[in-house]
Amino acid sequence: MERAKALEIVKEQLTDHRYQHTLGVVETALKLAKKYGANEKQAELAAIFHDYAKFRPKEEMKQIIIQERMPEELLFYNSELWHAPVGAYLVENEVGINDHEVLEAIRYHTSGRPQMSLLEKIIYVADYIEPGRQFPGVDEVRQVANKNLNEALLLSIQNSIIFLVKKKRAVFPLTLETYNYFIHIKED
Ligand SMILES: [Fe+2]
Ligand SMILES: [Fe+2]
Repeated sequence: MERAKALEIVKEQLTDHRYQHTLGVVETALKLAKKYGANEKQAELAAIFHDYAKFRPKEEMKQIIIQERMPEELLFYNSELWHAPVGAYLVENEVGINDHEVLEAIRYHTSGRPQMSLLEKIIYVADYIEPGRQFPGVDEVRQVANKNLNEALLLSIQNSIIFLVKKKRAVFPLTLETYNYFIHIKED
């Protein structure tokens, strides 16, 4: 799909603020794809559509999770997580994107997962560090992302977990598994 067409489709689904964020993720994902040798077309497409489902009603997302037999565990954790797997489903079924790797990058852009593909890591990190993001620690992740993608990923996941723990909120098990996985491969 052409970039302009894809952007037109996603713009209708997002607020202006979230659309600007999406443009930032696209720019950052393309830079990372160039740097780390990922397919740029896939990185662009996954970045454009990663937040496609962000503003779907909770009830609709819940129905899709149940109907499509996604992990029901999702329903017991923050609904912020839902737009990622639901987005993968809707991008395939409403937009007609059937590149499995692109869909998986959308599916795991919030939770991460162990053994993430290069494309999945790029989307995860790009979402975290795009130029519009401003929060403590983001500059450090930006710098690390220029040198080591796994380190940048680990740092983003670590920050996200610490943020949740400080707010006394639950951490999705897959995110903890992802953290452990990248700690272990670092030690090897
Ligand atoms: Fe998202
Ligand atoms: Fe995002």
